[in-house]
Amino acid sequence: MSLSLATVAYLGAAILFIMSLGGLSNPETSRRGNLFGMIGMALAVLATVYGPRVSEAGLAWVIGALVLGGGIGLYAAKVVKMTQMPELVALMHSLVGLAACLVGYASYIDTSVQFEGAEKIIHEVEIYIGILIGAVTFSGSLVAFGKLNGKIGGKPLLLPGRHWLNLVALLVVIWFGREFIAAKTVAEGMTPLIIMTVISLLFGVHMVMAIGGADMPVVVSMLNSYSGWAAAATGFMLSNDLLIVTGALVGSSGAILSYIMCNAMNRNFISVIAGGFGSGAPAKAASGEAAQPQGEVVPVSAADTAELLRDAKSVVIVPGYGMAVAQAQHTVNEITKTLRDKGVNVRFAIHPVAGRMPGHMNVLLAEAKVPYDIVMEMDEINEDFPDTDVAMVIGANDIVNPAAQDDPTSPIAGMPVLEVWKAKTSIVMKRSMASGYAGVDNPLFYKENNRMLFGDAKKMLDEVLVALRS
Ligand code: TAP
Repeated sequence: MSLSLATVAYLGAAILFIMSLGGLSNPETSRRGNLFGMIGMALAVLATVYGPRVSEAGLAWVIGALVLGGGIGLYAAKVVKMTQMPELVALMHSLVGLAACLVGYASYIDTSVQFEGAEKIIHEVEIYIGILIGAVTFSGSLVAFGKLNGKIGGKPLLLPGRHWLNLVALLVVIWFGREFIAAKTVAEGMTPLIIMTVISLLFGVHMVMAIGGADMPVVVSMLNSYSGWAAAATGFMLSNDLLIVTGALVGSSGAILSYIMCNAMNRNFISVIAGGFGSGAPAKAASGEAAQPQGEVVPVSAADTAELLRDAKSVVIVPGYGMAVAQAQHTVNEITKTLRDKGVNVRFAIHPVAGRMPGHMNVLLAEAKVPYDIVMEMDEINEDFPDTDVAMVIGANDIVNPAAQDDPTSPIAGMPVLEVWKAKTSIVMKRSMASGYAGVDNPLFYKENNRMLFGDAKKMLDEVLVALRS
């Protein structure tokens, strides 16, 4: 493929990526958005593999790597459960970071292309910054992976003088950057480069370890953004325009998402990055353990739940992580259809950090074919709870915790929540009295107008559906 044809293909791919992002901004167009992204990526890969920069001798290597990597990716995507998606995404981010580091070292060692003067300095700055971002993304994403799958506790690790530590690390990295650029030979430049890489790896670990469980959504989107910048840096190192454009698109959309997440959780972005939020929360290990009772809870049966739903004029369903675990979305849709056929006004309330990844609930509801027009964002529906007969909480906990509003000492204080307790009756569907991801007890369970439907969400909803239809 000639250079000009490859350039046209890159341009086409860049346009497709932008159209893909546009499509992904709305659930109704998201499938089309995904398709644009896939076509764009196929075009980009083909134009690169058959482009002027891959020699015939190198082609076999590239195709071998493509088959191997593609095979592993396909297998991982096939076996991963929906609830493990956030971990998989974190792992993918770490690979982007690792790739940036490896490309950085390779292009430094590669002496086949010689740069002189200002060009040499620019090339070395690209390498230095690329490896720095890559290393932070790599180690930070690995820790995020551990935190998301529960292998690492959610309690923030707050080292004494951690801000000073970070500042010193930054100054040392700048100092070694100067040494690196001043180095006359590759061997001489290697020492500062390796020292910087180690510091960046440690910084990535420290940064994510210092963040409390409830703030993990911000970290996930922030690492998403970092992986984009790491890809853009790789693009600079390889002089690949498409990689720069794609990386910048991912980087900036991840940054916007982090900003939206911070707003949704009423957090200050810088403070989250600096770490320490959620420090009052018990360790992640506490999630899954029984919380201390604060009063009486009123259990309810599936048959009584069906009765309450049948008598209601207006029902709001609040899905959370437990719905994803139980894979209850299809039964939820059946219940919704049955109730709507009976003339009940059913709507869904989606909290921005419900589940374990941005848009988690929207994806599940779309998969179950719940109509988009009854799926509402938190801001659109929160005011309607006082006029709601039944608020049905399905496997959600932190996002409906009134302590966020009432208890200034709570680790989730200030986080906006769905005010389900303002409905005439709220029904919380979960298996036990265990706390949610943030490890905080939930006073909602003890409210007078609240009922607890204990059990696996799918099993209980199946029973509710049978009772509704009988
Ligand atoms: P959580 O607060 O984690 O609560 C989920 C509840 O579901 C648990 O209390 C659990 O109680 C219940 N559950 C689990 N399996 C169930 C099953 N099979 N059937 C019925 N219930 C089940 O979830 P949430 O309310 O969706 O809030 C999300 C939390 O995750 C927030 O703290 C958020 O900050 C954090 N987070 C979010 C993200 C993103 S980007 N969305 C990323 C990382 C972290 P039982 O064990 O008693 O059943």
